[in-house]
Amino acid sequence: MAELEVLQDAAVLIDGARIGWVGARKDAPQADRVVDVTGVIFPGFIDCHTHGVFGSPRLDDHERRALGVDYKAIAAAGGGILQSVRDVRARSEAELEGLTRARLRALLANGATTIEVKSGYGLELEAELKQLRVISRLAAELPATLVPTFLGAHEVPPEYRGKRDAYIRLVCEEMIPAVAKQKLATSCDVFCEPGVFSAAESRQILAAATRQGLAVKLHADELDGSGGAELAAELGALSADHLAAISDAGVRALAASPTVAVLLPATMVFLGKRSQAPARRLIEAGAAVALASDYNPGTSPTMSLPLVMTLGVSQLGMRHAEVVVAVTVNAAAALGLHDRGQIAAGCVADLVIAGVDDWREVAYWMGRGVVSAVWTAGSACPPL
Ligand code: NIG
Ligand code: FE
Repeated sequence: MAELEVLQDAAVLIDGARIGWVGARKDAPQADRVVDVTGVIFPGFIDCHTHGVFGSPRLDDHERRALGVDYKAIAAAGGGILQSVRDVRARSEAELEGLTRARLRALLANGATTIEVKSGYGLELEAELKQLRVISRLAAELPATLVPTFLGAHEVPPEYRGKRDAYIRLVCEEMIPAVAKQKLATSCDVFCEPGVFSAAESRQILAAATRQGLAVKLHADELDGSGGAELAAELGALSADHLAAISDAGVRALAASPTVAVLLPATMVFLGKRSQAPARRLIEAGAAVALASDYNPGTSPTMSLPLVMTLGVSQLGMRHAEVVVAVTVNAAAALGLHDRGQIAAGCVADLVIAGVDDWREVAYWMGRGVVSAVWTAGSACPPL
């Protein structure tokens, strides 16, 4: 992860939507059109974990946390995820689409050319499908690549309190088959966390997803550990995400598996927690580590992967080269994508241009926004 190839005075040949060639400018093949770039060209950043479809920001939760109330206590009192669920259920699809469009454009303007987007604020069939249809329409419209994930097991909705088994059956027997049949998601995620879904329940839900041909991933060991990382590795999940409370056995399991450890440092900072996932232990054990925003209204309202890279260095002890790998090629792997995340012949021509002198500045100017232009599938994005 610490090896980056940095070319000086380089050229990139774009051929249609793909990269045709990269190397020293003096060796560049003839091109129909030449665009001069001053600054650093990165592979398009990949945000492999967002909850991008929601209604209002959760300002009351934020204020209560400032008064010392914990995330889980706020959730238990009816705030938290269920607040956003009431909000999303009540909104029209068109309204949600408008809100989501503006937010995804902001992520793209900060360099995220591929964005995973989860459902999970509906928690009933029609409201989950509504969120996924919003993602599908915006995928066809926006210049970014959107990767949709079904997260019907984000929480047990209030109407199923006291009958969680019935909700899990609904997720497995109705929601997952409907989502798969309508091709509205490529993966299924579960919030595997003590007090939300247990490891046994998560296993049951992800088995149903696998039967329907969906890839699987997990919110694992986010706030308290419950063997989520071990479960993700055992199931061959694309990724195990969060991991602030991962066990030693979990670190070993991820290191020995192709499952990517997706770390979300902005979440712990926004929640005011002093702990973070053990990035160095994961990297040194040999796990593949990616970074993502976790963009959501409750725990991480940041729209900036460069800010997350800054936090990767300062909060997780990652090297500058490691944070670049973590938001490009490793983040692509966390989504099961192998055609992006590098500036290499054959890859999708998604490029980010930063108006800086040294590539390390992308993780240095904390929160400034160094991205000056974004190209996706071989074309410059209009100003965002
Ligand atoms: O990744 N942990 C579960 N999901 C989100 C939070 C969602 C919310 O609070 O709305 C997370 O932190
Ligand atoms: Fe999340």
